[in-house]
Amino acid sequence: MNRTVYVNGEYLPEDQARVSVFDRGFLFADGVYEVTSVLGGKLIDFEGHSARLTRSLGELDMVSPVSHEDLLQIHRELVTRNEITDGLVYLQITRGAAADRDFVFPDPDQVPSTLVLFTQSKPGLADSPQARVGIKVISIPDVRWGRRDIKTVQLLYPSMGKMAAKKEGCDDAWLVEDGEVTEGTSNNAYIVKGGKIVTRHLSNDILHGITRAAVLRFAREAQMEVEERAFTIAEAQGADEAFVTSASTFVMPVVEIDGVKLGGGTPGPVALRLREIYLEESRKSAV
Ligand code: PDD
Repeated sequence: MNRTVYVNGEYLPEDQARVSVFDRGFLFADGVYEVTSVLGGKLIDFEGHSARLTRSLGELDMVSPVSHEDLLQIHRELVTRNEITDGLVYLQITRGAAADRDFVFPDPDQVPSTLVLFTQSKPGLADSPQARVGIKVISIPDVRWGRRDIKTVQLLYPSMGKMAAKKEGCDDAWLVEDGEVTEGTSNNAYIVKGGKIVTRHLSNDILHGITRAAVLRFAREAQMEVEERAFTIAEAQGADEAFVTSASTFVMPVVEIDGVKLGGGTPGPVALRLREIYLEESRKSAV
């Protein structure tokens, strides 16, 4: 494969794309990212991802190297050049490459931020066979830092969580802090009991998922009851169903938590209905 990737103003073959070894993303995980899915050649929830990117940058005193309009144009250009029908666009902005390794932030007027975007093709993304059978999760302690609302590239612990899940024959991990579920390693977590959808309230403890916002809006529009509060693993294991949401998996049913099967071990009707609504509605507003 030789994709075209975007690096600091240039569209380059992936094997010619370079960033400096002094880049702060590489040395300090000093960067933020976004993942936007593509269905039918169009970007899903682009406005939400762009708005969250602006917020992440602002929280870290980072400057965006491009405008919102330019960003949309770059996304579209990469989708076109790489002939992406279904897949995703990954975007990363770091605080750039200062002359030396130094914990102190460089002056943004002297050191421009680094902007990288690339695509991943995933034909049939919305038709994932996994969504038909659901995923199994384990729980692990949430030992991440206290600003999970900022979408930084510090993803070692989420990676370790997925590896721990894999080791136990599962697909993902739910993170638990003070006895309550915060979120999944790379998704927001939900349970359904008696028709009511429960998901953790927004705070610095979780990422404010763009898919979460859309799914909750669609659920309320469909007269489903939504409660935004924390829940425990024990409560989740006693729920009728569970699911996770993210830009890359949309709404994904969860059928087992720490070895306990939910709803007979098959995807629940609320999760499947929300997946259907989300895909239908977000395709309509795709750009
Ligand atoms: N992950 N929580 C965490 C910790 C995440 O990393 C993500 C997204 C979400 C869901 O957010 P959204 O609905 O905006 O994608 C929640 C992306 C997909 C990733 O790292 O690949």
